[in-house]
Amino acid sequence: MGDPGGSGRVTGGLAAIGRTPLVRLEHLVPHGAAEVWVKVEGANPTGSYKDRMAVAVLTGALERGDVEPGDTVVEYTGGSTGTALAFVAGVLGLRFTAVFSDAFSDSKRQAMEAFGATVLVEPSGDGTITTELIDRMRQRAHALAEAPHAYYADQFGSPDVPRGYATMGAEIAEQLPGGPDVLCVAVGTGGALMGTLAGLRASGADPAVVAVEPAESALLTTGVPGAHRVEGVAVSVDPPFLDRTVLREVRAIEQDRAFEMCRTLARTEGVFGGGSTGLNVCAAIDEAVALGPGHRVVTIACDSGLKYLGGHIYS
Ligand SMILES: Cc1ncc(COP(=O)(O)O)c(C=O)c1O
Repeated sequence: MGDPGGSGRVTGGLAAIGRTPLVRLEHLVPHGAAEVWVKVEGANPTGSYKDRMAVAVLTGALERGDVEPGDTVVEYTGGSTGTALAFVAGVLGLRFTAVFSDAFSDSKRQAMEAFGATVLVEPSGDGTITTELIDRMRQRAHALAEAPHAYYADQFGSPDVPRGYATMGAEIAEQLPGGPDVLCVAVGTGGALMGTLAGLRASGADPAVVAVEPAESALLTTGVPGAHRVEGVAVSVDPPFLDRTVLREVRAIEQDRAFEMCRTLARTEGVFGGGSTGLNVCAAIDEAVALGPGHRVVTIACDSGLKYLGGHIYS
């Protein structure tokens, strides 16, 4: 992905972030539909597009002098962002403390610790994710970040987050000259969608944009939250980075269809992803059918299916 700012900080394993494959779906797209291309972000070092965000956030903070080597980065996390931050912090000589909970998978705690993080576990009580638990995690992270030589990474507010995803758009424009007609992206914070679009536009492409969300918690289309099991998405009625004026539409996809798509994708296309990948590919195929031949739809496999083994999608 190159070295943002040419600072020479993107060394060691950080140089393996980005330049992920863009693959065309061969079997799952009906005859007579547009082409569907998938950016395989599970190929990043921690298996997620979060690595792009983490390197942008932490190199940005170092370059501004907001942190110095030896300082402690703090974030509350369900594990994927935490693993990416732990990985990047270690290479940049920063410490990382994650406020985590036993409501999330233990393998994510282990991954953060493998990269040298200190993981503080907020008890969930019964293993479920509730707004009360998330509030408690956030408050604990904010309190820790008040300490001297501590820095709050701010995955829900830092402008470095969408900036980090711009590399994804630039790579897609290079891999698919002329760019896609449509870009379909599942929304959590909206950072990946906005950053990818910015990277595409900076490279001269200007696709129509479709935001994707689970129908069970269709916050963008209905504003009504609901219980759902697609990790990382549908986190807010007002995603912090999302500018709704860039959207042509929002597609709400039923989660069971997305999970079934994950299994089919793995078995027929060899694309291995999690629930948000399933949402994205369902929406992209729907778009491709509506568009017809002679067009190209791009979507994202946000992270690797390896992160979901043992969970409800693949067992
Ligand atoms: C697996 C997964 N998919 C999708 C998203 C949504 O990305 P964004 O927050 O950039 O909208 C996330 C974010 O946490 C995620 O972890």
